[in-house]
Amino acid sequence: MSADTPPKPVRRKLRSESWFAGTDKDAFIHRSWMKNQGLPDDAFDGRPVIGICNTWSELTPCNAHFRDVAERVKRGVLEAGGVAYEFPVMSLGETNLRPTAMLFRNLASMDVEESIRGNPIDGVVLLAGCDKTTPALLMGAASCDLPTLMVSGGPMLNGNYKGERIGSGTHVWLFSEKVNAGEMSVDDFMQAESCMSRSAGHCMTMGTASTMASMVEALGVTLPGNAAIPAVDSRRYAFAQMSGRRIVDMVREDLRLSKLLVRDAFVNAVRTNAAIGGSTNAVLHLMAIAGRVHADAGANLNLDDWDALGRDVPTLVDLMPSGRFLMEDFFYAGGLPTVLRALGDAGLLNKDVLTANGSTLWNNVKNAPNHNTEVIRPLTKPLVESGGIAVLRGNLAPLGCVLKPSAATPALMQHRGRAVVFENIEHYKERIVDEALDVDANSILVLKNCGPKGYPGMAEVGNMGLPPKVLRQGVTDMIRISDARMSGTAYGTVLLHVAPEAAAGGPLALVQDGDWIEVDVAGRRLHLDVPDAELAVRRAKWKPEPVAMRTGYQGLYVERVMQADQGADLDFLVGCRGHAVPRESH
Ligand code: FES
Repeated sequence: MSADTPPKPVRRKLRSESWFAGTDKDAFIHRSWMKNQGLPDDAFDGRPVIGICNTWSELTPCNAHFRDVAERVKRGVLEAGGVAYEFPVMSLGETNLRPTAMLFRNLASMDVEESIRGNPIDGVVLLAGCDKTTPALLMGAASCDLPTLMVSGGPMLNGNYKGERIGSGTHVWLFSEKVNAGEMSVDDFMQAESCMSRSAGHCMTMGTASTMASMVEALGVTLPGNAAIPAVDSRRYAFAQMSGRRIVDMVREDLRLSKLLVRDAFVNAVRTNAAIGGSTNAVLHLMAIAGRVHADAGANLNLDDWDALGRDVPTLVDLMPSGRFLMEDFFYAGGLPTVLRALGDAGLLNKDVLTANGSTLWNNVKNAPNHNTEVIRPLTKPLVESGGIAVLRGNLAPLGCVLKPSAATPALMQHRGRAVVFENIEHYKERIVDEALDVDANSILVLKNCGPKGYPGMAEVGNMGLPPKVLRQGVTDMIRISDARMSGTAYGTVLLHVAPEAAAGGPLALVQDGDWIEVDVAGRRLHLDVPDAELAVRRAKWKPEPVAMRTGYQGLYVERVMQADQGADLDFLVGCRGHAVPRESH
């Protein structure tokens, strides 16, 4: 070789080769059984092995089209010289799973983590859609840290009822309140059911699924444009195919999740959430994902970041539940790249963070056009001046609680009212319809024992419906306080995720009917106006509610789940455990 001949690049030994290369008994076992699927010898010649982690399930309607999406990913992997193996993981359907899909987010993340680590794969494509599937998959994958690319399934087409847009979830809450107030017939309510869900895909409001699809795009763990393409648009399938091609190169470049999920990327995601008017659930999910990257759970993102980073970011996207439009409109207007460009133009974006396509975030979005300034408003004409998530603290929530100002009533942001207390969800359901209930529009509804340990799983019941007798007076919002979550499709002046929760002995457990509560959103304060001595007397008498299930996964969950201010992950799952497995199976 002459002195000026460039050295040949050394091919990095791939992880899968420790299963498939060689002539010993173990390699024989690994290859031979895989060959029963009709694979040729060269499927094991050292080409990148891509796992397609699929949350397909007919019980998760938002993800029911994922077999087709997976086929397109496979096509892309093959085109790029890789080999693809699809594998199932636990699927979490928001509308069917009881007591709440959130109870199983961490369980699904364990399934994902161990399925990735235990198998001969070099890189993984995560197929997610319905609310909890996105964080569960990314949490599990982050704990392994292989090259990883996410493909969201895409939103449903716009709902349409009697010629009007209706949004998943948002109009369920709205219509059911109208029925309770006697303003809508049950027949009309039933008719709206089919008009809401018109195609494959996830909720088409800026609920949790669309929010999380936007979050993963802002984090740079998808190709640009992931969030908004409707599930049934041909471009969703082309996107899946392109993602299949790209993951093969990510393996060759060893572009692992830990190189993408850096603090600057989380900062971008928090600001993006404010700009899109995203779900309060993103607070929990992003902190849980960040906690999987670093053993120090708050290193990349903590609850105070949510308040500080999003406070000055205007909400630009006029989508339900905060605004008027839906995800299909968002896609036609330009989708998330247009929002990211606006944030970058305003100096609100860390432009240099690396993304999955190997380019910086800014390079991906700097020329994104805005095709409809009604849907994606300019910075000079935002939907809400100060979006983001407000984090309130005080003697009622020492570790914090959250409120989404863009979905709240401005007149209620500073309020003093008397508590109407519900000890648990059954107590609420029984009592809220009682015409003799001592409640009016100025009361504050307090719901206990619906947090991570209490429900268990922190159900989406925090946006509890208003008392019918108040609704009939034409009242549309009241302050509600709970240790629960609310659906990302919901709205109202709702203080959520109160930590510590009532079931863990937080001060929320001590509130009684008639107590005065002060809410000061601008001052970020939530105060229970009861003397300390009286609270001490109540605490001495307090007993936790009995736990429904002490064994099985639910028993483990209740024992080890962290509070909402830390993302409600299981404490022993925090951190990245890597992908090394030193021992053979035989
Ligand atoms: Fe699946 Fe809303 S129910 S995304």
